Amino acid sequence: MAEINVSIGFDQRLAPQDIAGSRAHAAMLSDQGIITPEDNAAIQQGLNQVEAEITSGAFPFRPELEDIHMNVEARLRELIGAPAGRLHTGRSRNDQVATDFRMWVRQACEEADTALADLQQALVDQADRAADMVMPGFTHLQNAQPITFGHHLMAYVEMFGRDRGRFADAAHRMNELPLGAAALAGTPFPIDRRATAQALGFDRPTANSVDSVSARDFALEFLSATAICATHLSRLAEEIVLWCSEGFGFIKLSDAFTTGSSIMPQKRNPDAAELTRAKSGRMIGSLTSLLITMKGLPLAYSKDMQEDKEPTFEAADALMLCLAASAGMVRDFAPQPQAMRAAAARGHITATDLADWLVRELGLPFRDAHHVTGTLVAEADRQSTSLAGLSLETMRAVHDGIHAGVYDVLTLEASVASRTSEGGTAPVRVREAIAEARLRFGLNNAG
Ligand code: ARG
Repeated sequence: MAEINVSIGFDQRLAPQDIAGSRAHAAMLSDQGIITPEDNAAIQQGLNQVEAEITSGAFPFRPELEDIHMNVEARLRELIGAPAGRLHTGRSRNDQVATDFRMWVRQACEEADTALADLQQALVDQADRAADMVMPGFTHLQNAQPITFGHHLMAYVEMFGRDRGRFADAAHRMNELPLGAAALAGTPFPIDRRATAQALGFDRPTANSVDSVSARDFALEFLSATAICATHLSRLAEEIVLWCSEGFGFIKLSDAFTTGSSIMPQKRNPDAAELTRAKSGRMIGSLTSLLITMKGLPLAYSKDMQEDKEPTFEAADALMLCLAASAGMVRDFAPQPQAMRAAAARGHITATDLADWLVRELGLPFRDAHHVTGTLVAEADRQSTSLAGLSLETMRAVHDGIHAGVYDVLTLEASVASRTSEGGTAPVRVREAIAEARLRFGLNNAG
């Protein structure tokens, strides 16, 4: 029983929130005349000492006391005696743990936001230097159309910006104080929940005492935002793995973010990217775990809910680690423009530009232009050359309206520069997007 029941091994991470909650609760009890100012003073001073012991590592955590709430309260009694027994007036461990955990998750949302902003900063700064660095844009991982590396990196800035929005939304919605719900029904003591809410930085008290001790959707929202963010991180990680492989060679990672092989001296393995890619599994697993724990639980509190913490802590730890590693890798990598350009030059990547030119210049319907372009691509393959390598004579044999002006759109630079639609890859647009993103996401100008 002791072994399955105990939670102090993991919920000791809630100590700062537990102490803050008790401080606010005791002060409110005293202001309401429920305990004396002297008892409150003793409790506050005792909690200071408990906090100091926890910070210094001297706190004697005792597994037989089950959880963080009873450990703190028992130690308080050892330190200050009788007044400690009055702290738990008008509250229960059910509203206490709901409060502690909300505060912890709220802070995790804030930390995720800060780390995501730092990753965006790293991406924007690299993008700035790569606003006209041509690379192949892919669909199906096949060369599709040329884009710039800066434009590609800015796609991630948008993804991580939406992740920040999800964490902010979750933090905003969860910011209601459960304390005062007591076990589930409320309390007959004349408590002031608005005062405790204010003291603990909540917007207001929760509206329903049963919901207060039953709800864990705040943690589910955090885990959902984490899982989605993890999928974004895993995509970036996967691209880093691809880009620094021999086949691509688009970036070089320094020794700071790679490891050597124990038997192949030439190797530099992108372990940080691979582990970031892998840890997305843990984060998604944490969401699944808590969803299944909560599914079908009758109201109000059930001990099942003690199992909310480990997956949440594990996901939050993995998230923070992966965000830091990703920002580190993005700052570290050195783009290789020649390799990107060479890759973009393969696979008739400006074929769409040719088709668009036939529409614009010769008035062909797009379908016909597509057909003419397909014939020219086949001809270029037959001659083992690029579209720009075809003679005007060859082109005119396929469509006699084609004139020398066509060569202007067949270069990579012309292709990229022509994509000036809003949100497009033209370097002028990318530079605008970078400046706009720095403002919108509150990022610094110089990296
Ligand atoms: N350790 C418990 C948890 O994490 C605290 C609440 C326990 N409440 C109770 N009535 N046993 O959920």
